[in-house]
Amino acid sequence: MKCAFKERKIAEFNVVILIFIFTEKVIKIMINDILEISKIAGEILRYGFGKQFQIEYKTNEKNLVTEIDKKSEKEILKFIKKKYPTHAILTEETGEIKKDSEYLWVIDPLDGTTNFAHGLPIFSVSIGVIKKDEIIAGVVYDVMQNIFYSAEKGSGAFANQQKINVSKNDDLGLGVLVTGFPYDVADNPDKAFERFESLTRKARAVRRLGSAAIDFCYVAKGVFDGFWEVSLHPWDICAGKLIAEEAGGIVTDFDGNEIDIYSKRILVSNKEIHQQLIDGLKV
Ligand code: IPD
Ligand code: CA
Ligand code: CA
Repeated sequence: MKCAFKERKIAEFNVVILIFIFTEKVIKIMINDILEISKIAGEILRYGFGKQFQIEYKTNEKNLVTEIDKKSEKEILKFIKKKYPTHAILTEETGEIKKDSEYLWVIDPLDGTTNFAHGLPIFSVSIGVIKKDEIIAGVVYDVMQNIFYSAEKGSGAFANQQKINVSKNDDLGLGVLVTGFPYDVADNPDKAFERFESLTRKARAVRRLGSAAIDFCYVAKGVFDGFWEVSLHPWDICAGKLIAEEAGGIVTDFDGNEIDIYSKRILVSNKEIHQQLIDGLKV
């Protein structure tokens, strides 16, 4: 009797191990696919950068979309639909492609469109994958620097093949931060200017690069100690959140609560200065 019980437990344990190995393998294959499609999309952006392209206004004349955003997205969608036809997808330019699936791909085909359209070489491709409610893999490709930031859940974060970590700085006064402003900031500021002033007074410096996905990665790499922004979208957040967390960082709302990709107030840091940032954002 005792022996049968022991055998059943061993069998159950083996099944758990097999599922674990299988899941790990699936994520590995996925991350390679995400890297591959990010590269293809990135090449479209690099080729289009500095050339003539059509520009349209989305909600207003601050909010642009170029034909290159659309080209990049078209290629990414083609790839996913072919390789993962059962998976759901959410992209900036197409919206939701619903499927009865536990997987959701979240895509920004060009993060930093204003920079791109004005000839500033700071922009990226951002692709994250969610399984059930957990982000399991993400890639942000900084196209003009040719750096692939990547992370798989539980395996750390990388810039090309190099492991990256957040900074160790625990003093906001010595910290360099980054932020951004939504396109509708004039109508819906959510205290963005007051918060900018408050943290500019407290930190060593505050930068504004124009690609939220890269902002997350620069916290992950320890370039910046913190990043905050209001009114970001799921495609700005998904891949970068995992990369920052896997590099040892923390991503919350402005009160320190857990967030998901649909949250509107995002605060990212190296953990050490998180409370100082929360205090500084209270205006
Ligand atoms: C924008 C960039 C920018 C941020 C904006 C985003 P887009 O994304 O990430 O840094 O400040 O809020 O909308 O439109 O270039 O993909
Ligand atoms: Ca974006
Ligand atoms: Ca975009």
